[in-house]
Amino acid sequence: MELKAAVLVSTLLCLALSRGALSQRAPTVETPAPAPAPAYVDLADLLSLAGPYGTFLDYLTKTDVIKTFQSQANDTKQGITVFAPLDSAFAAVDGAALSNLTTDQLRSLMLHHAMPRYYPLSAFSKLAAASPVSMFAYKADVTDRAGIIGVVSGWATAKLVSSVYSTLPVAVYALDSVLLPKEIFPTAPEITPPPAPAPAPGLGAKPMDDAPGAGERGAKADGGDKGSSCRVGAGRLLAGYVVLMVCGFLMM
Ligand SMILES: *[C@@H]1O[C@H](CO)[C@@H](O)[C@H](O)[C@H]1NC(C)=O
Ligand SMILES: *[C@@H]1O[C@H](CO)[C@@H](O)[C@H](O)[C@H]1NC(C)=O
Repeated sequence: MELKAAVLVSTLLCLALSRGALSQRAPTVETPAPAPAPAYVDLADLLSLAGPYGTFLDYLTKTDVIKTFQSQANDTKQGITVFAPLDSAFAAVDGAALSNLTTDQLRSLMLHHAMPRYYPLSAFSKLAAASPVSMFAYKADVTDRAGIIGVVSGWATAKLVSSVYSTLPVAVYALDSVLLPKEIFPTAPEITPPPAPAPAPGLGAKPMDDAPGAGERGAKADGGDKGSSCRVGAGRLLAGYVVLMVCGFLMM
C-alpha cells in the first residue's frame, strides 16, 4: 500500500517535472541586443589590425589623408566608406608610377579611395545604378555584375574582395587593385598581373564571393544566432532526458 502510494506520488511528481522540463519555453533566442554602436572607430588601428593593408595605411599616414578620413569617420551622421587596396594590389603597380607622383598627386590618389559617406554592402547595387559616384577626390564607377561589386576608375577595374568592417559610421572594403584615375595617371601605368590567385585576405576579412552582403555584419550575426539556438535546443533535450531517466529510476 505504502509502496504503491510512493510509486504513485513519484510518478505524478515525475510527470509534472518532465512536463515542466520538456514544455518549458525555450528562452526565446532574440537577436542579441545590438552591440552599442562603437562611438569611435580608429581607422589606423582597424587597417593595421585587420590584415594586409599596410601599404595603403603607410600612404594614408605619409600624406596625412588618414586625418581627413578619421575626421569623416568621427562624423557619425555621414560616415565614410573606405576602399582599401590589398598590399598585393600596391605591389602589382609599377613602383616608379607611384614614386613619380608629387605629394599632391599622391594625396589625391589616397583621397580617391574613399567616399564621404557610409554605405553598407546592401547599398552597392543602388550605387552602381547611380554611378559615377563621388569620392573624396574625383569620381569612380561602382559596378554590380550579379552581386560581384567592382570599382572602376581610369586604368583600374578593381573588385571588392571582402568586407573588412561595416558598422555605421565606418565601412572598409578590400580591393584587389589600386584605383588609377586618369586625372593622376594620364597614361596607363604598368601593372604586374598577380602570379597566382590572390591569397586569402588576412584575419578579419570575410570572403564574400557567394552572395552580396555575405561579408556584412548582418550575415555574421545570423550565423551566430543559429549556433546558439541549436545549443539551447540541445540543452533542453538533455534536461528532458535527465528528468526521464530520474523518473524511470524512481519508478523502479
Ligand atoms: C576623432 O575622435 C576621437 C575620439 O573622440 C578623437 O580622439 C580624434 O582626435 C578625432 N580625430 C579627428 C581627426 O577628428
Ligand atoms: C617617372 O619619371 C621619370 C622622369 O620624369 C620618367 O622618365 C618615367 O617615365 C616616369 N615613370 C613612370 C612609370 O611614370
